[in-house]
Amino acid sequence: MELPRLGQGTWDMGERAARRKEELAALREGIALGMTLVDTAEMYGDGRSESLVAEAIAGQRDKVFLVTKVLPSNASRKGVARSCAASLKRLKTDRVELYLLHWSGSHPLEETVRGFEDLLAAGKILSWGVSNLDLSEMDQLAKVSGGTACAADQVLYNLSRRGIEFDLLPWCRKRSLPIMAYSPVEQGRILGNKVLKQVAQRLGATPAQVALAWVLRQKGVVAIPKAATLAHVRENHKALALKLDAEALKALDAAFPPPRKARPLEMI
Ligand SMILES: NC(=O)c1ccc[n+]([C@@H]2O[C@H](COP(=O)([O-])OP(=O)(O)OC[C@H]3O[C@@H](n4cnc5c(N)ncnc54)[C@H](OP(=O)(O)O)[C@@H]3O)[C@@H](O)[C@H]2O)c1
Repeated sequence: MELPRLGQGTWDMGERAARRKEELAALREGIALGMTLVDTAEMYGDGRSESLVAEAIAGQRDKVFLVTKVLPSNASRKGVARSCAASLKRLKTDRVELYLLHWSGSHPLEETVRGFEDLLAAGKILSWGVSNLDLSEMDQLAKVSGGTACAADQVLYNLSRRGIEFDLLPWCRKRSLPIMAYSPVEQGRILGNKVLKQVAQRLGATPAQVALAWVLRQKGVVAIPKAATLAHVRENHKALALKLDAEALKALDAAFPPPRKARPLEMI
């Protein structure tokens, strides 16, 4: 299974009745434009994000690459089965394309992997992966029986959070393991950056498009921006067609320097 390069996040969606209509329209527009990977989690709004996603994908389930996540506190072999069943119920579907461990907790990775294997065998998930696992934890996972079946590591990655370029990204690349970049526009905080704005203006693009194109230009990296308005979804989709030239990359490197040494993986 190939991951669609540009997907849609849903953190903080489904929380406010007054915004529901617009959020649904945004998700549906994204799917229509080909941003068919939809990322959610049992944690988001205690399942309310998954319920919103169910509504957005109703009638078009087969077009969607659905990703949801199990909380570490539920990631025992039996807990994974319970959480997945509850997620599938909220999502009103019989399977998800990718099921992730949200971050590592007290349950041994072996147990979680056994739980994922049970779900694979039952056809309830089509692949599994992890999120927020740093290099040492990925190394540990690779040593667990069945651990190399991991299909993705979803981590914080954007212009202002480049730590993974030092070690985790090359490690994943070597193993053809996709990275899913979450918060690819740093929840909006980088969009006012002067250099980003200048680069965007020169290229006839917006800061969000440049920030997304910068993430997407790298092989094996998928981005999952969250956009709750039609305008943002349409704007983000155009990032797929934006090419950053050498001048843009140089300016962005100067404003957002790459890491010079290993750093602990950052999380939001
Ligand atoms: N695995 C994990 O631990 C983890 C952690 C964090 C996030 N995630 C996933 O990754 C997804 C994305 O991350 P995120 O939601 O933290 O942050 P993000 O995608 O970097 O930023 C979302 C924010 O940026 C705004 N935005 C989106 N497109 C824009 C545009 N074109 N112009 C201006 N503003 C724009 C959104 O506004 P509007 O909503 O108003 O459109 C929203 O306020 C999440 O929704 C979630 O699915 C996973």
